[in-house]
Amino acid sequence: MAVRELIDKLNCEKKLSHDEWVKLIKEYDESDRTYAAELARCISQEMFGKDIYIRGIVEFSNICKNDCLYCGIRRSNGNVSRYRLTAEEILQCCDEGYGYGFRTFVLQSGEDAFYDREMLCGIVSEIKKRHSDCAVTLSLGEKSREDYEALFNAGADRYLLRHETADEEHYKKLHPAEMSWKNRMECLSDLKEIGYQTGCGMMIGSPYQTAECLAEDMEFMCDFKPEMIGIGPFLPHKDTPFRSCPQGSYELTLFLLSICRIMLPDVLLPATTALGTINPKGREQGVLSGANVIMPNLSPVAVRKKYMLYDNKICTGDESAQCRACLERRMESIGYKIKISRGDHI
Ligand code: SAM
Ligand code: FES
Repeated sequence: MAVRELIDKLNCEKKLSHDEWVKLIKEYDESDRTYAAELARCISQEMFGKDIYIRGIVEFSNICKNDCLYCGIRRSNGNVSRYRLTAEEILQCCDEGYGYGFRTFVLQSGEDAFYDREMLCGIVSEIKKRHSDCAVTLSLGEKSREDYEALFNAGADRYLLRHETADEEHYKKLHPAEMSWKNRMECLSDLKEIGYQTGCGMMIGSPYQTAECLAEDMEFMCDFKPEMIGIGPFLPHKDTPFRSCPQGSYELTLFLLSICRIMLPDVLLPATTALGTINPKGREQGVLSGANVIMPNLSPVAVRKKYMLYDNKICTGDESAQCRACLERRMESIGYKIKISRGDHI
């Protein structure tokens, strides 16, 4: 079957066999990518019109107990100036964001035990108390089921935890031996069972990734049916073991965004900051390839450069208000508009 027929088959049946996934990923060309992007854009417009949901992300701590080989804030990077925001600082970022029209706040950090269950629940419930029309998304890494339940009961609505790779052997090449692929996968099923709108995802072009790995990622997401998918290109960071590895492919990232949209028409799909970093028009092209979410930064400018997951990360010098206005212009330039709403999964 030709690649174009595989795209049509995916559109009709919402799944492919493993071999078909591999063929799609290995053999697509630029005209197939355009074909998939047009189809994905139509599906996205049927689902969401030309509205783009925005999520204000607060990167509240860059301290992490983990040592993921790709990540700029891994614990063994001694060149990072570490920071923690106080609960009040986090709340202030959300208050400011509310004024700019954000109705979803994403709290993201390294795995930092300083913020214990009680403290995190207090922050979540205070955000919901101050802004009852807002959603809270957490992206705090792997936690116990009890922690996830407590945070959900405190009012958290969504949780982002990229699975990173659905291939256990590949996972072992990206993470130190003490980290467990099985645990990450269990966390994802716990989150879904508890009732979170759950997001998984992976980097495109991470070291040692093959078309077979990506096929497994697609098969996993097809079965798991996440409400959100975070995918962006792998970008090297100068102080990590992967400093000399090539960055992921911009075109393949756009193609897989389209393929995710075709497979899961109602999924909440961001055009990520990494996509905007690899190409100055990456987020616009992401939207034109089927993405419907953007996640501008609400962290205080003083800490932004310290949350450097990869080299040259964009938007680290701008005030939140500037980021918000810049994205409004960028979306308008391609005929889309920012929607002031929680933007829940339907
Ligand atoms: N600690 C939380 C977790 O593990 O989910 C959230 C923070 S973690 C830095 C967020 C995501 O950043 C990871 O899931 C990973 O996919 C992405 N990331 C880390 N390093 C990256 C790199 N060098 N290039 C692209 N994305 C990267
Ligand atoms: Fe923990 Fe990257 S290693 S956030």
